[in-house]
Amino acid sequence: MKQTPLLCINIDHVATLREARKVGYPSLIEAAILAEKAGAAGITVHLREDRRHIQDYDVFDLKTVVKGRYTLEMAVSEQILEIAKKVKPDLLTIVPEKRQELTTEGGLDVMSAKSKIKEFLQEVHSVSLEASLFVDPDLKTIEVAKEIGASRIELHTGTYANCKVGSEEAEIELNKLIKAAEFAHSLGFVVNAGHGLTVENIKPILKLPHLCELHIGHSIIASAVLIGLENAVREMKEAINIHE
Ligand code: PXP
Repeated sequence: MKQTPLLCINIDHVATLREARKVGYPSLIEAAILAEKAGAAGITVHLREDRRHIQDYDVFDLKTVVKGRYTLEMAVSEQILEIAKKVKPDLLTIVPEKRQELTTEGGLDVMSAKSKIKEFLQEVHSVSLEASLFVDPDLKTIEVAKEIGASRIELHTGTYANCKVGSEEAEIELNKLIKAAEFAHSLGFVVNAGHGLTVENIKPILKLPHLCELHIGHSIIASAVLIGLENAVREMKEAINIHE
C-alpha cells in the first residue's frame, strides 16, 4: 500500500501575527504543542535573514518542545547555519530568499549557484546535519542537485498551487511534479514537497510517488484563525488520509 506522507506544519505565520504587534503572543511554543497534539508529524519554521516572522529565540525554544520532526528552512547563509549548528534540527531545508518577496517564490537556482550550494552542503554534512534542497520540478535541476551531493529534495508545489483546482494547467503542473518525484527517487533522493498547499488542492498531490514529507503552513494557519489550530491540522490530516 502507498505510504501516507508525513504532515509537517509550518508555523511561521503564527509568528507573523505575533510580530504584527510584538506583544509576545500568540505563542509559537503553544502552537507547536497543539499542532503535534492534533497529529502533526513535525514542525517547520523558516528563519529568514530579514527576521520578518520567526526570530532566533523561536528556533531555540521550539527545539525544546517539538517531539516529532523539526525542520528549519533557511537560505544559503553562514550566519543562519551557525544557529542551526547550535540547535541541531532534524532537517535543514535550503531555500532561495529575496528581500521583497511575500513568500518563497520558487525553487533554488541550483544551476547558477552550483559551487556555492555544493560548498554549503559540504559544510552542513561536516557537522552531521541533514539538508534538503527546495527545487522546482525540473529534471535537470534535480540531476545537478545529485551531482553536488544532495540526498533529499523538497519539490516546490507553488506553481501547481497557483493553478485553478481541476484545471488543465493544474494537471500539467501535477504531471511535472509526478515525473520529478519519480526521477528523484530513481536517483536515490528522499522526496518531500510543499508550498501553497490547501485542503482544496492537496488530493492530486498525493499521487506523487515516494513522497516522504509534506510541509504546509499558510493555509492551515489561516484556517486556524477561524476554526482553531487543532481543527485546522485535523482537517488537513483528514484530507490526506482519505485519499491514501
Ligand atoms: N516549503 C518551503 C520550502 C517553504 O519555504 C514554505 C513557506 O515557508 C513552505 C513549504 C510552506 O508553504 P505554505 O506556507 O504556502 O504552505
